Amino acid sequence: MDQIPWWKKTIVYQIYPRSFYDSTGNGIGDLKGIISKLDYIKDLGVETVWFSPFYDSPQKDFGYDIRNYREIALEYGTMEDCERLIMEMHDRGMKIVLDLVLNHTSDQHTWFVQSRSSKDNPKRDWYIWRDGRKPLGKKPPNNWKAIIRGSGWHYDAQTDQWYWTQFLPFQPDLNYRNPEVQTEMLDIVRFWLEKGVDGFRLDIIDALFEDEKFRDNPCSFRLLPSEKSPDYLFQSKKYTQHHPDTLKFLKSLRSVIDEYSPTRFMVGEVTGPMFMLRKYCGDETNDGLNLVFLFKSLGISLNTIKIRRLIQLYESFFSYPHIPTWVFSNHDRMRRISRLGGDIKKAKLNMALQLTVRGVPFIYYGEEIGMENHNLEIETSLDPVAHKFYKVPNFILMAIKKYLGESINRDECRTPMQWNSAQNAGFTKAEIDPWLPITPSYSERNVKIQTENADSLLQCYKRFLKLRNTTPALNSGTIVIINSSELPSNVLSYIRSYSHGSEKQIAVIYLNISDDSLEFKNPHKYANFAESTTVHTRNEKIKNVEIFLFPWEGVVYIA
Ligand code: NOJ
Repeated sequence: MDQIPWWKKTIVYQIYPRSFYDSTGNGIGDLKGIISKLDYIKDLGVETVWFSPFYDSPQKDFGYDIRNYREIALEYGTMEDCERLIMEMHDRGMKIVLDLVLNHTSDQHTWFVQSRSSKDNPKRDWYIWRDGRKPLGKKPPNNWKAIIRGSGWHYDAQTDQWYWTQFLPFQPDLNYRNPEVQTEMLDIVRFWLEKGVDGFRLDIIDALFEDEKFRDNPCSFRLLPSEKSPDYLFQSKKYTQHHPDTLKFLKSLRSVIDEYSPTRFMVGEVTGPMFMLRKYCGDETNDGLNLVFLFKSLGISLNTIKIRRLIQLYESFFSYPHIPTWVFSNHDRMRRISRLGGDIKKAKLNMALQLTVRGVPFIYYGEEIGMENHNLEIETSLDPVAHKFYKVPNFILMAIKKYLGESINRDECRTPMQWNSAQNAGFTKAEIDPWLPITPSYSERNVKIQTENADSLLQCYKRFLKLRNTTPALNSGTIVIINSSELPSNVLSYIRSYSHGSEKQIAVIYLNISDDSLEFKNPHKYANFAESTTVHTRNEKIKNVEIFLFPWEGVVYIA
């Protein structure tokens, strides 16, 4: 038995609870619905499921505005349902990861209701309150912008002060400089660990602390944010992000997580340059986050050189004992297949990369059936971020989509899971309006149809997931990119090697990142064909001396 912790070898599937399966017939997904689909997830070959928040919430940001961290939102079920979910997952050998929003609460949380009631309320200092700028106090305390457009300060007439929010006005930031807040939040973490959850995804965890002196953020030359830097509208985040005290707090959080056995883990949402992301994993002793999301992959084009560089970049910052994450879609960003022009062949190739490269893969629900973004009108959107852009002319939004590959309206990537070709894609009853409309391509892109078709994207995912789960070289091995002149330039190839005691294994991966069929000598002819993204592969028959790849085919050989 090797000593690699389970979370380094695992595969994570993200569920947006509102959109997975509606068991009650109200158009909204729920916990009982999820429980009824656990066999599907298990059968897919996934071990770990991360759930976007299902705690009690007014749902203004669909759960990322928590009203009570120790209760379940009524529309999703009860605490009993949640405990059953944990149990049913563990019975199947699965792991459960909850989404923890530590940075802010809902403005309807009793803490905030109390905090805003008067300046001398005991909860006043649980949030960040300041006087407005002198002389009149009618201007925000400083120039800090929120992550989403505009000042992050909001005036509250009742006490004539301003409160700070990193995100939206109804999501007031907790004041982590108050020790009571830290103690309470760590208690909440313990509450869920006691219930048996196996890990946490930490929402905007790089924003917990701000500058103690409330200094103005300096100017930046950036107009738009990017994966590298969240600075935008010409303002840097110097005093509102990556504060050293945030990293310090994460160490306390890590020591709470480490009190529990079997091993638990944390993955954090952090944005910024690679060296900064790496810092969040802690010092030499790795006493910070276990994993950080790496988002550079989200928008990467399928191009041999770019992907090779990305693997090298991830490896240079997250080499052993660290491990990168591979994320292509999530509940905030455009679905990967929509960036690939809806092309299933490319989606298979992309999946082959994600499941064979070194790193922890995060699959977003429906990615395995090629669920696309639904083009929805911004005026009717439910997403509170989209509301902020109502007045932005449509041609600008279209340009953002076309040139930046992003949709401002996050409803588009959150539509209901597509189970079958029936009305409402089997997500809810036919006569009910689902909370978001079903994406039109559901009649071909659904679980039922793709289960019956051996050549479908879903079946391809299952084959590769099975291979990854049963192949130590793929789930635990090192990675070396092959730079051989014998390889066609559109082929990306790498070797994964595993060695533990006398057990040794290598896997060789070839990805044809092109529209052409390619034939070339196999530089590793002693390896055996193991899997392909196509079911028509010729490689099994040609004794592995020559390799033939169909356009966008990915293959794995094992020795
Ligand atoms: C990041 C989450 O991924 C997003 O969905 C949410 O709206 C914000 N944080 C605020 O919590």
